[in-house]
Amino acid sequence: MKGLVLSGGKGTRLYPLTYTKAKQLIPVANKPVLFRVIEAIRDAGIREIGIVVGDTAAEVKEAVGRGERWGVEITYIHQSAPLGLAHAVKESREFLGDDRFVMFLGDNCIQGGISPLIEQFGQSDWNAQIVLTRVSDPSHYGVAELDDDGRIVRLVEKPKEPRSNLALVGIYMFDRSIWEAIANIKPSWRGELEITDAIQYLVEHGYRVYPYIHRGWWIDTGKKADMLDANRLVLEEIEHRVEGFVDRDSQLIGKVTVEAGAEVINSVIRGPAIIGENARIVNSYIGPFTAIYHHTVIEDSEIEHSIVLEHSSIVAIPHRIEDSLIGRNVKVHRSPIKPKAYRLTLGDHSDIGLL
Ligand code: DAU
Repeated sequence: MKGLVLSGGKGTRLYPLTYTKAKQLIPVANKPVLFRVIEAIRDAGIREIGIVVGDTAAEVKEAVGRGERWGVEITYIHQSAPLGLAHAVKESREFLGDDRFVMFLGDNCIQGGISPLIEQFGQSDWNAQIVLTRVSDPSHYGVAELDDDGRIVRLVEKPKEPRSNLALVGIYMFDRSIWEAIANIKPSWRGELEITDAIQYLVEHGYRVYPYIHRGWWIDTGKKADMLDANRLVLEEIEHRVEGFVDRDSQLIGKVTVEAGAEVINSVIRGPAIIGENARIVNSYIGPFTAIYHHTVIEDSEIEHSIVLEHSSIVAIPHRIEDSLIGRNVKVHRSPIKPKAYRLTLGDHSDIGLL
């Protein structure tokens, strides 16, 4: 079996962070979501992985490389335009050949990996398998309708009036019958070749398509709240590990990871939390569910339930920062300049909650 990861697309819902960064590379608990996807596929025993890339190709390639780090072989597939998930598969034909494959959306985070699923599909003669999970807001996703025997009857992409609460998780397994399906579908109302339509074609033409109901957590990390949720869920599973320096005046409570080269001086860190490589935490409080990425400085400040990306600094902020997603190379600091005023340089679509 081969793996296909979709890492093209636009990522507009995570603006302004994704003006400068592919959304699949934004870290959750200090590891890019895309890396977690590659690891899940590798852990299921797959070595040949194709990554579909678009506008952010250079950045994805630089971050992922050729795959040696994970013991896999990565092939990049350039999608000519972000014209839908089925279009991305279509343009991967040369890489996939007639092999069975698992397709994984590069912005999805799932608990527990996909090994059982791959094993089940790999040993079966099914033509396709889709992963479903129950959600409270199905209209944001592809939605599946099953019959009384649990077989798939219909799939609809982001329906206004969903007929079930079973959302399509961004993991799909296919055999070569998908090529016939993709050749026979037309772009949807949003101008995309939808993978849901291709699967619907398989169902309607007598192919064997089976659902797998996922019961752990699953997050499509498309929006800020989703990123913080995914960060919280992954941090709940981290180990307590200290490779950096923690001075005697500091206190680590609960599960805290302090990566190599990081320094924690006269601070309290209440886990689960992770402090990235070469970060400096000085006279500060880092609360639960916070991920501080590498080369970041937090000084005389308090922060919790947040993500701070690399090379940013938060210095001498008088109120606790919460529920925040802070990008790369950001400076949040107190200014001595008179008159006292907020002085802001904010990117488009920024969202600031002041006291
Ligand atoms: O996350 C699950 C949902 O993912 C499913 O429930 C939906 O049925 C499915 O259509 C998809 O919906 P999204 O609207 O969330 O898809 P998004 O545009 O975010 O794209 C998912 C990933 O695929 C993302 O990593 C970008 C990549 N992509 C997307 C498109 C449209 C491509 O590589 N090429 C593309 O043309």
